[in-house]
Amino acid sequence: MKIIRTVPSMTAWSERLRREGVTIGFVPTMGALHDGHRALIRTSRLRCDALVVSIFVNPAQFSPTEDLSKYPRPIARDRALCREEGVDVCFEPTAGGMYPADFQTIVTVPVIARRWEGAARPHHFAGVATVVTKLFRIVQPHLAWFGQKDYQQAALVRQLVHDLNLGVKIQIRPTVRERDGLAMSSRNVYLSANERRMAPLLSQALRVGRRMIADRVRDVAAIEQAMRQPLKREPTIHVEYLAVCDPDGLEPLPVVATHAVLLGAVQIGSVRLIDNMLVRIPS
Ligand code: PAF
Repeated sequence: MKIIRTVPSMTAWSERLRREGVTIGFVPTMGALHDGHRALIRTSRLRCDALVVSIFVNPAQFSPTEDLSKYPRPIARDRALCREEGVDVCFEPTAGGMYPADFQTIVTVPVIARRWEGAARPHHFAGVATVVTKLFRIVQPHLAWFGQKDYQQAALVRQLVHDLNLGVKIQIRPTVRERDGLAMSSRNVYLSANERRMAPLLSQALRVGRRMIADRVRDVAAIEQAMRQPLKREPTIHVEYLAVCDPDGLEPLPVVATHAVLLGAVQIGSVRLIDNMLVRIPS
């Protein structure tokens, strides 16, 4: 596996392979790789001739009060996982390489970024949209894989690629979960033993909503209220939002008609967890 650290070398590698007619797959990450990333890498490996994984903790998507400096960076373990999974290139740019001193341009996707994570974390999605646009230009993949776990991010990336004609096919893969339902996330390592015990309640809440919709409950207020119940068992959990939304535009739905996405975010101690479930109404 090749480790590439500079933007010009990465682009030169991709341009050479593209000229040779090679299909390039890409999994962008911030490292601290877990089985969710592994699943994305494996699918991409099967579908593409060459596979690039980027590991870059993007400062632009963190606010000054967030965890940029303590974000986990187990680079040796990440590289080992990439090697095991047959990744061809690990692209590990520096912050200075991605954002030189004269850097100015910010990409925003205002409507999709307006609610939920966008409301809770101002500037987060502008940071994501900017870095993903840059990574796509640098790596020039034919296909790129993202996890459904970050549902709003995936919707934003799709919109971005469509609006800016970036010519990358976006593939979204289902969330990988621990045995107790907790969605895998690099930030789960921050949970204390007691917080880890409480953390699966978020997926339980979403499952309550999913079950009600499958049972043909259409009233969103009733569904949202029922989703809060499992979380009430632990009064220290702060619910930021639990919402039933249109899966495309992410706007809240007044009633469930054909399909929906259930979105949730909670704060447990100092750790913020997000999760989601897609629901289709059985016909
Ligand atoms: O999902 C992530 O890990 C990041 O938001 C991404 C897409 C790599 C951009 O920094």
